[in-house]
Order: sequence, then structure tokens, then C-alpha cells
Amino acid sequence: MKLTRRDFIWIVPSAVTAGFFAWLGWRTVNIQLLKKGVGEPVWKDGPRVLVASLAELDAPWKFRYFGYPFRGGELPAVVFSLPQAVSGGLSVGGQHFLALSRVCTHMGCTVNFVDNPELGAIAYNHRTDHPFLGCPCHFGAYEPLQAGKAVYGPPEYPLPRLRLEQVGPELYVTGYEIPFRPFEKG
Ligand code: FES
Repeated sequence: MKLTRRDFIWIVPSAVTAGFFAWLGWRTVNIQLLKKGVGEPVWKDGPRVLVASLAELDAPWKFRYFGYPFRGGELPAVVFSLPQAVSGGLSVGGQHFLALSRVCTHMGCTVNFVDNPELGAIAYNHRTDHPFLGCPCHFGAYEPLQAGKAVYGPPEYPLPRLRLEQVGPELYVTGYEIPFRPFEKG
């Protein structure tokens, strides 16, 4: 069949429109669904670093940023308290804690602990009723109650966890999970 010029007038826009919606569908699935799960961590010993006192994190969602010596540099990280135990976290006398790398697994920006979920919904387009970790570069979001799993935006992989230990009234980081994947494009 020979296509006329008239045929092209509707075939080309139709193909462009179909392509756009196919891309939009793929992007929606990628942003919301194609995320790697978080299993039980395999730990590697690392430097022992004091990161917080129990008193500083004495209620759910209190947090503290810290730097962890890692591969000759300093890894930005965060430790926070949670209302429930999570995989790779630490529970002490009814209190629950988790420590995560703050290096976004998409392209390596530093994520923030977003402790106001209403402002977070506006800034990151991610709706939840509790704090989360958000990346300011492409608005990726990570879920603390799923041990740092990526839940929205471009990141596919979770934030790597750091191993916590309690000694008396203090919390230490003593290692990190392996394989340690800083970020996808790194
Ligand atoms: S670098 Fe964090 S979402 Fe892209």
C-alpha cells in the first residue's frame, strides 16, 4: 500500500502521541514500582565511631547527622529512632534505631531527613504520614520503615545501612552492609 502525503498528516502525530504515552507509562512504573527490596544485611567491620547518645534519640523520629570514615573519605550518614524495629536496625529496651548512608543511590547527592511529611509532600511529591529521606537533586524518596528502601523517584536501590551497637548510654557505628553500592552511576 502506498502512503499518501495526507496519510502522513495523521500517522506522524499519532505515532508521536503513542510514543509519548508509552514513555509516560514506563516512567510512572519506574518512579513508583521498580524498586529493589531490602533483605537482612551482611555486615563488614569498619571503624568504630560514636554517633549519638540514647538520650538524643529518646523519641521516634529524632535524628542526628554524622560522618563515617569510609574508603579514605567521610560518608555522610544519619541515625534516627523509629516507632518499630526494622531489618538491619538496632532495638534497645523498647527503642528502635537505624543508621543509613545519606548518599543517594541514584547519582550520589546527599539526601535529607525530612521530618515534616506535609512539607515533604510539597517539596518531594511523596505522600506519607511520617518522616522519610528525600533527595533534593531529582526528588527521590526513601522509606525509613522499610529500612531505607527507595519508594519514589529515580533511585532504584535502597540506602546502604550502617551497623549500630549500643554501649551504655551511647550508640556506635561499627561497620556497613555489603555489597556497599554508593550509587548507580558512580
Ligand atoms: S541523585 Fe538523588 S534522586 Fe537523583
